[in-house]
Amino acid sequence: MPRLTLRIVLALFVLSAAPATAVPLAAADSLEPVVARTAMASTGHPDASRAALQILRQGGNAVDAAVATGFALAVVSPDAGNLGGGGFMVIRRPDGTATTWDFRETAPSGAWREMYTDGGLSSQVGHAAAGVPGTVAGLIAAHTAEGRLPLADVLAPAIELAQGQFLSGRNAILFNRYRDEFRQFESTARHFTTSDGRLWAVGERFEQPDLADVLRRIQRDGRDGFYRGRTADLIVAEMARGDGLITHADLQGYRAVERPVLTSTYRGHRLLMMGPPASGGIALAQALRAVEPFPLARWGLQSAEAVHLAGEALRRAFADRAFWLADPDFVDVPARALLAPRYVASRMASFDPARTTASAAVSHGTPPDLPAEGTETTHYSVVDGEGMAVATTVTLNDYFGSKVAVGGAGFFLNNEMDDFATAPGEPNFWGLVQGEANAVAPGKRMVSSMTPVILEDERGRLFMVAGSPGGSRIISTVFQVVTNVIDFGLNAQQAVALPRFHHQWLPDHMEFEGGLPDATREGLGERGWLLDRLVRFGAANVVVVRYDDRGVRTLEGGADPRRDDDDARGY
Ligand code: DON
Repeated sequence: MPRLTLRIVLALFVLSAAPATAVPLAAADSLEPVVARTAMASTGHPDASRAALQILRQGGNAVDAAVATGFALAVVSPDAGNLGGGGFMVIRRPDGTATTWDFRETAPSGAWREMYTDGGLSSQVGHAAAGVPGTVAGLIAAHTAEGRLPLADVLAPAIELAQGQFLSGRNAILFNRYRDEFRQFESTARHFTTSDGRLWAVGERFEQPDLADVLRRIQRDGRDGFYRGRTADLIVAEMARGDGLITHADLQGYRAVERPVLTSTYRGHRLLMMGPPASGGIALAQALRAVEPFPLARWGLQSAEAVHLAGEALRRAFADRAFWLADPDFVDVPARALLAPRYVASRMASFDPARTTASAAVSHGTPPDLPAEGTETTHYSVVDGEGMAVATTVTLNDYFGSKVAVGGAGFFLNNEMDDFATAPGEPNFWGLVQGEANAVAPGKRMVSSMTPVILEDERGRLFMVAGSPGGSRIISTVFQVVTNVIDFGLNAQQAVALPRFHHQWLPDHMEFEGGLPDATREGLGERGWLLDRLVRFGAANVVVVRYDDRGVRTLEGGADPRRDDDDARGY
């Protein structure tokens, strides 16, 4: 068959393949996780999972593998994996100690509070939407602190992929779908549309020589290969092609921050989470605490009782998020107090099992003072042979972020500035209404919904590594993945595949994916929920660790069927 015809046939095959969606409850029994004895990676792309396993087999630990995965995703999943965005990493070492890395973007030094209202700039598309990228600083800092292999080894898989990869169906479809947006920006058009104007074909070889050069500079010079020298010059030159604000000083001044892990408990399990400026840890832990007194397992998986309760728990958690959450380096966030069992119980005092509580009647709570304590996205979970675990979520925000690719460097810049309360009181891209604490200020980190989490079992052993993309829907996705495993006894694949629901205080409705049982929808309607059907949201990547009577581990990997490229593999 001539090459072009073969490509077209392949493209039609992929386009006509069943859309990637949730698996209905009725089919849950057929879902099996990937099982392995030693190590497991669940990531957003098969080549990224392969990179993780390659590094583990070379003697790297879970952090080496996670860093290799992060760089590989920047190459093979350019809609979300990135060098030009930011994220969060939670690490649990084999001895049970844990830490987190915050590499969220910061507002450029030239940013100001009203830049998206009076200034008339766009927080969603174009150069002014980009915050100062954090991913490279974060991956390098985590590797320096915890890694075992040389940086040169850890970057090698990504560099090889940048020299040429075969476009997955998902990438070809996304590149083609965003073609018009890419053409708005000269550099993006050059790097991400075909030179002769035709559509990308599935399986076509896609080479990223400029990106390979950036990765080589990072391989040679560490963070300076990105934040100084040629890469920094290219970013600043790109800013000048639009209304961008990122300067050399912003890049040189960017720092990833190691922050103490935020902890909570759920039914005897310990949660190790990311604290602010991520909101996901606090909101997840609040929602889990809120449902803990209730017999979810007896009510049944996706029963109206259980979904109603979870919706009410999420309503209160998101109302707190909107008011309290902010960059902790700019605003005092009472993280521990928001998780206190008595405070969460007080928030749930108004819970009515028979009726919704209108969001208009629920505002943020006021937790009692507690003594201060040391205080389009892709997620990947990695566990190594020694029991070290890493949960990382990185993002550009929307698919391909600001849609601006850095000319001569070939990576997208984020549009994370939209995660600030750009116009406090008005909904952002994710429909979130946020408050003053999250207003734009120079050098400040915008609040995130990202929720990378590691759980320990009742005996303090590593139990689960989880996270997801999905904007505000990340929090409800991770909540459901955790309860699916702990309350409903599902395996790792069932936990990520079943239909989900979502509620975020405002707007005052519940979203659900097709496949949620009819009786559940009726029961929710009777309780007063306004329901909106969404095709799909979230793409969770999890690893669950099981132990037999002698303590021998089996690793279960779950990769969300909603994204074609999601992939779990181990050995
Ligand atoms: O940090 C946040 O909350 C968002 N920027 C995450 C965006 C996201 O998950 C996109 N994925 N579909």
